[in-house]
Amino acid sequence: MNESLGKPIDRVEGRLKVTGAATYAAEYQIKNLAYGVPVLSTITKGRVKSIDVQQAQKMPGVIGVMTSENCMMLHSPAGSDPGSGKFAEKDLLPLQNDRVLYGGQYIAVVVAETTEQAERAAALIGVTYEEQKPAVGFENHFATAYQPGSGLGGAKTQEKRGDADAAMKTAAVTTDETYTTPVYSHTAMEPHATIAEWNGEKLTVYDATQSVMGVQALLSTILGIPKENTQVYALYIGGGFGSKGFTWANTLLAPMAAKQFNRPVKIELKRQQVFSAAGRRTQTQQKIGLGAGTDGKLVSVKHDTISETSFVDEFVETAGVATPMIYSSPNVEVKHSLVRLNRGTPCPMRAPGESVGTYALEVAMDEMARKLKMDPIQFRIANHSDMDEQKKKQFSSKYLKECYLRGAESIGWNDRNPEPGQTKQGNLLVGYGMATATYPANRSASSAKATLYVDGHAEILCGTQDIGTGTYTVMTQVAADAFGLPVEKVKVKLGNSSYPKGAQSGGSQVSASVGPAIRAAALGAMSKVIKIAIADHKSPLYDKKEEDIMAGNGRIHLKDNANVGEALVDVLRRNGMDKVEAQAKTNVSTRAQQSTTAPDGSPEAKIEEESKTNAAVQADEKTERKDYVFHSFGAQFAKVLVDPDLGTIRVEKIASIMDIGTVMNLKTATNQIMGGIIFGMGMALMEETKYDPINGRIVTRDMAQYLVPVNADIPEIDVQFIGKPDPYISPIGARGIGEIGITGMAAAIANAIYNATGRRVRDLPITPDKLI
Ligand code: MOS
Repeated sequence: MNESLGKPIDRVEGRLKVTGAATYAAEYQIKNLAYGVPVLSTITKGRVKSIDVQQAQKMPGVIGVMTSENCMMLHSPAGSDPGSGKFAEKDLLPLQNDRVLYGGQYIAVVVAETTEQAERAAALIGVTYEEQKPAVGFENHFATAYQPGSGLGGAKTQEKRGDADAAMKTAAVTTDETYTTPVYSHTAMEPHATIAEWNGEKLTVYDATQSVMGVQALLSTILGIPKENTQVYALYIGGGFGSKGFTWANTLLAPMAAKQFNRPVKIELKRQQVFSAAGRRTQTQQKIGLGAGTDGKLVSVKHDTISETSFVDEFVETAGVATPMIYSSPNVEVKHSLVRLNRGTPCPMRAPGESVGTYALEVAMDEMARKLKMDPIQFRIANHSDMDEQKKKQFSSKYLKECYLRGAESIGWNDRNPEPGQTKQGNLLVGYGMATATYPANRSASSAKATLYVDGHAEILCGTQDIGTGTYTVMTQVAADAFGLPVEKVKVKLGNSSYPKGAQSGGSQVSASVGPAIRAAALGAMSKVIKIAIADHKSPLYDKKEEDIMAGNGRIHLKDNANVGEALVDVLRRNGMDKVEAQAKTNVSTRAQQSTTAPDGSPEAKIEEESKTNAAVQADEKTERKDYVFHSFGAQFAKVLVDPDLGTIRVEKIASIMDIGTVMNLKTATNQIMGGIIFGMGMALMEETKYDPINGRIVTRDMAQYLVPVNADIPEIDVQFIGKPDPYISPIGARGIGEIGITGMAAAIANAIYNATGRRVRDLPITPDKLI
């Protein structure tokens, strides 16, 4: 029974946030807190020869300076090998040696009574370096490109079917162009921050993270302390977009310093430090070859990507990841290669792979449609993939053609002149463009605990987190429906590593993963209440069958006669119970390798045991999924106005039609897609992290120089959903929504600019200078 799911209810934590009552990682009031300020390397490659801390140590308020010479030694994460040249997982092991591998790397941390005192002292630290020539300039290093291992989530970096080269040679029409994208920065509103406090052997950490469970596991390994002694909180997070999905040095340096100086320590990054030491999107060069027959059918697709990573870790931007699946073609070849540069380590950023990949591929599709003299929508419909031709499996559900048609209607596609540069509005050139959006629907094992209290309210505990996307709200709706309670009576608690293990907030997987676990836990608790009533002589439901009973309006009652039933609280009160609780784990994964079994005797194993008798878990796990692939699709449309004299671009309207399964909350879902669209606008038109070509340091290290769209840049945005539940992903039918909104967006805008001007810019961002 769905009473609240889908409704556009307000964010349950909205009032806390706008009144400043929601506590973010850096805001905890901890007694005796000391403040850590990192000292950043001013060179891009080399070694630290000496650090003179004498003057800094003498400054007022300074507690100490932590350097590679006096800090604690860390344990390498499993599978990493810091000595091998392949290095540890990310640049996670700060201050473990004197090596400098990128500009802005932390080489010391000053700890003082106030931030200001620490900053003043940090400025007085004298460092001498042995400088080496850094690898700078992406294109300068193509000769060193190598074939990397697998990408995120085990994504293949090389894919092939048929013979793309042979098919290209005989194709009637071909295109072959190169597209480039710059380094982008996540620029989440909340800078990364960590507070660490030791209590004997026990560590408590408040961290801005997309994974409390991940940080708990990593800290326990790296610091060499048991997981039970590591408590991580992330109650509210001001955006992550992937940058808080990896664990950066601040999360380790705070507990290291706290131990060393025997004080709780906070490290809160400045905006400049977020740019240099907390992730970024990698730079790419993508070569796309398309071959088609005169009938407009693709016969060959080639997608060849070079991207870059750091010397600290191997991160692959799998730009071609969607290419084998998105259109029908007998011959496909996707390649990725990687070069290493002395830059901070890149990491996932909203739709890692697909965001830049759909830019290149969807502009190439527009170029091919133009050569074929076909309408871009018709060209895509002609090459619609009815199944994943690479994996040879059906899509769990797909309504992409409907997305195209509704998008065309919304943007006014009929007004588009296929001839570029022909339509004017006053002095401005008008253009329309479109592209396909796509992102996989990930789901992984998750657990949750549900408790119904005798006062009539219910509580959910789950070790996932709300990174600002609405997780608290939609999970409240899921639980409220399962309990048959109004949303006001349900409290969802997240962001605490001691709760049952929930999914990390990455890969658009939380709703699809955690939702079914929360639902199953709540239904498990309700089943217990119903069983108590059935066994209770005093209950109007005495001796009835469980399957004939449902929950609603705070009651349980017969499905076919709502009058026969009673309030939940009456069942508990009469039986002298103050609460009924249940735990559930749904061990379902759309990526086979993520299914998990907890070790015997662990709290997680107890949840697995209880789940064996949970009907909702059992039904969910039994659903046959192996014949399907899970993807969301959508259509992105843009209308732009370009000033032919100045090259300035105004996005006039965006229409975005999304097929994401069940819409759990129309307001938060629309908001998620809008966020993705605006991210895509920045990607297309403004954002670019620039590096000094000589010394390799970041030049655009603040938001005055790294431009993101602001309210004045945002046009009318029409977001629509198909709204058909996915029958296979889960009983809720919702696929993820966090990332698909950016995919295809930059291409839709680039294609609209071409339609307006006849200028094909293949180098993002499309700034005015590139149009005049
Ligand atoms: Mo996302 S880039 O998987 O946080």
